[in-house]
Amino acid sequence: MHTEDFNILKTGLIYFDNGATTLKPKILSEAISDYYNYYSSNAHRGDYGISLKASQAYENTRVLVQKLLNAESPKQIAFTSGTTDSINKIVFGYFKQHLKAGDEVLLTKSEHASNILPWFELSDDIGIKVKYIELDENHQVTMDNVKKAITPNTKVISIAHISNVVGDIRPLKEITNYAHTKGILVLCDGAQSVPHMKVDVKDLDIDFLTFSAHKMCGPTGVGIIYVKANHLKEIKPIIFGGGMNAAFDNSGNREYKEMPDMLEAGTPNIAGVIGFGYVIEYLQNIGFEKIHNYELELKSYLIKRLKEIKEIEIYNEYSESGIVTINYDDIFPQDLSIYLDKYNICTRAGSHCAKILKDELKIKNTCRISLYFYNTKAEIDKLIGVLKNPNIKKEII
Ligand code: ALA
Repeated sequence: MHTEDFNILKTGLIYFDNGATTLKPKILSEAISDYYNYYSSNAHRGDYGISLKASQAYENTRVLVQKLLNAESPKQIAFTSGTTDSINKIVFGYFKQHLKAGDEVLLTKSEHASNILPWFELSDDIGIKVKYIELDENHQVTMDNVKKAITPNTKVISIAHISNVVGDIRPLKEITNYAHTKGILVLCDGAQSVPHMKVDVKDLDIDFLTFSAHKMCGPTGVGIIYVKANHLKEIKPIIFGGGMNAAFDNSGNREYKEMPDMLEAGTPNIAGVIGFGYVIEYLQNIGFEKIHNYELELKSYLIKRLKEIKEIEIYNEYSESGIVTINYDDIFPQDLSIYLDKYNICTRAGSHCAKILKDELKIKNTCRISLYFYNTKAEIDKLIGVLKNPNIKKEII
């Protein structure tokens, strides 16, 4: 779908690394270039026309994100540099003030580094305990295992909506419903879900949501934090400077602004945020339901075709997203990715930043094929053609 919107696809590139970042439609560079060429100025700081235009366009994106997520107010949306930055700002700006030694945070072993390392750091800082929800035989999260992992000390569940390696959609609504009956808050890493499906923060009742623009056709360097209304007054900044303060004096008296300005110290990525607004509208015009359904159709086609090759092991056949993780017999996954690149096919090999998961999978690394709406069955056929080359091992070695 919509392949004509992506100049890079005209080069014959087959891009299957959408879990890492997505391609960018022309509309993004046009919007960014328009800002740099015609109204380049700081936002929220200038009393002149182009600065007001930049501020309006920047704030317009905030409203678009609010509507995209079905949040109540744009005040609940802060811009960051990416999901990693967003999670760090919540862990240290909110949970550091609200947790104490002995409190437990529940993660899974398939979380991305950015949803594990900040918690380890907080554990070193204030003595919280990091615990894990067990994964089932398909490496997925079940409600039973969530319930089993909860103890009277559990205070937070911090979990990806969709794992970036296994691609499973976690039962988020059930998790938040159950967690809230026990007074547990839920932080959701939406980096792999918001770009691919409708995510409604009210319906899912998430306390904190994070995601990145670059994984949904937007620019790199733009991330998002959503904060549920009742936590808005409780979050504290962890980066201090211009834009986030209301007043200060030479004795150190200071007053900080409320959300979202409080979390946006310094000049933000104005061009990126403005460009992201155009991309949100672009994706909404296509429709998130259509995107999700198309990806599922592509995924089942990919699985069906991969199964024609007996040397291929598929690790996550049953997940409901466009992420497929494989290995080809004893070929080192990096070698496989480099080989595919000779045919202009981009995949990602490695642990995909989920380094604990590989102990769980009992395999070192994998090759990941991650799909988006501009991929096609014809591209999958080309991939399969390359993987079916009877001389593949000889050519790699
Ligand atoms: N988090 C990105 C990935 O999964 C980089 O590839």
